[in-house]
Amino acid sequence: MNIFFIGAGNCTEIILEKMQNCIKKAYLLDYDVEKINFLKEKFHFCIESDFFISDDIDFYVECASVEAVKKYTENIIRNNKNIIILSSGAFSDFDFRNNVENILKNSRSQIFIPSGAIGGIDIINSLKDEINSITIETRKPPLSFNMINTKEELIFYGTAEEAIKNYPKNINVAITLSMAVESFDKVKVKIISDPKIIKNIHKIFIDSKAGKYEIKIENNPSNNPKTSLMAPLSVVGFLKKFNNSIKVGV
Ligand SMILES: NC(=O)c1ccc[n+]([C@@H]2O[C@H](COP(=O)([O-])OP(=O)(O)OC[C@H]3O[C@@H](n4cnc5c(N)ncnc54)[C@H](O)[C@@H]3O)[C@@H](O)[C@H]2O)c1
Repeated sequence: MNIFFIGAGNCTEIILEKMQNCIKKAYLLDYDVEKINFLKEKFHFCIESDFFISDDIDFYVECASVEAVKKYTENIIRNNKNIIILSSGAFSDFDFRNNVENILKNSRSQIFIPSGAIGGIDIINSLKDEINSITIETRKPPLSFNMINTKEELIFYGTAEEAIKNYPKNINVAITLSMAVESFDKVKVKIISDPKIIKNIHKIFIDSKAGKYEIKIENNPSNNPKTSLMAPLSVVGFLKKFNNSIKVGV
């Protein structure tokens, strides 16, 4: 498998580590040359690269930033290539989302948004039309919000759309959920600054015609304290599943 990575930081390193037996060539694009050199030394199959489109590439994988998603996605999908996007927060921009959806109407590309730092998307995919209400409660230590509160504090409650405006750095998970539900009004977001915890904890509450569901996710960080280890692992899980003849929990 040949993969073009946009971003050569923490997530890309974890994906390369876990996928080294399956990847033939990994093209790396990053404006930080040191990051590229580090990965080139560590994994012999890595190649520094400017952006290019080629039939030689099986997947483009974005592990960089919202800005990078907006810069490269259009070119990739106009050329019928597939991209996996981790910085799902880019889809909070209505114009970007609209543009991408229009291009996809005349493209053979597929965009894959992995579950990232959360889980339970399989339930949402199955129940999409039956959901009465859905809430994501995100709990983080005060330092994540540059706060020093000593008691638990609810710092935000509103729709995913409002959360984007107020907490743009904590939105990937709310946007991933909103994309899964296909509504930016339906998903309610609660953000709590909690001095009793050291990890990021997400709880998803779904009330639907099919039943009630509560999903709790207690993530360990990766080498980048802002990124849960599960986020890059969700890309690895997807890439491995993509090649399996039997797919479970699709
Ligand atoms: N979907 C989720 O649940 C989820 C969870 C965690 C992280 N993320 C997102 O994944 C992304 C990667 O996380 P990470 O821990 O690997 O971050 P990181 O900072 O370790 O690595 C990102 C790399 O991308 C590079 N980069 C950023 N913008 C670029 C651009 N426009 N062009 C070229 N290079 C660019 C940076 O120089 C950096 O080396 C972040 O945007 C983060 O928000 C998503």
